[in-house]
Amino acid sequence: MKNIVVLISGGGTNLQAIIDACATGDINAKISAVVSNKADAFGLARAAKANINTAIISHKDYDDRESFDIALRELVESYNPDLVICAGFMRILTGAFVNHFLGRSLNIHPSLLPKFTGLNTHQRAIDAGESQAGTSVHFVTEELDGGPVVIQAAVPVLSDDNAQVLAARVLEQEHKIFPLAAKWFCEDRLTLKNGKAVLDGEILPDTGFQFKG
Ligand code: GRF
Repeated sequence: MKNIVVLISGGGTNLQAIIDACATGDINAKISAVVSNKADAFGLARAAKANINTAIISHKDYDDRESFDIALRELVESYNPDLVICAGFMRILTGAFVNHFLGRSLNIHPSLLPKFTGLNTHQRAIDAGESQAGTSVHFVTEELDGGPVVIQAAVPVLSDDNAQVLAARVLEQEHKIFPLAAKWFCEDRLTLKNGKAVLDGEILPDTGFQFKG
């Protein structure tokens, strides 16, 4: 059974989806810790309810990004994870962290990458007149939201959508594709090879596996 550490900063609905999938055995793994950079992240309560260890490490206690990333790396490494899952972890991670966990760290981003990296993705998709929005799970690399995409799910953008309504529609898909990507990884079906995401021995396309529900 694999060992997962989940990094969060907020509400933790993606964390909950992964907790649930581990509980049913759908993901063959145990979550050994949930780490938050925010003491008031609701995801910490979700972890406690599931009897998962929690840890808080505030970036505000460190002089710069690098020293925070080194401390975070050491904290996470102390749990010996096979997989590190960034589930709404709202800090940009530098090489000090990312390169240490290269090939064993996944992030979820609320857009159809490579479109709309960074913040406010839903509003930006609406403003750009996109007919589709969505979400992507990708391997974490030094390039922000730029690592090889594993899986994507698309949803329609409707004419009366606002960012909040669209975010809720996307989030429903996030709760399906993130546990699925974690499941693949924990079954040794998903790897990062020569900078490409590989599923069942096949290099995935640049936009990853297209999830259709
Ligand atoms: C999700 O939309 C995820 O894509 C983004 O942050 C949000 C986290 O939501 N990175 P939650 O904390 O999992 O509910």
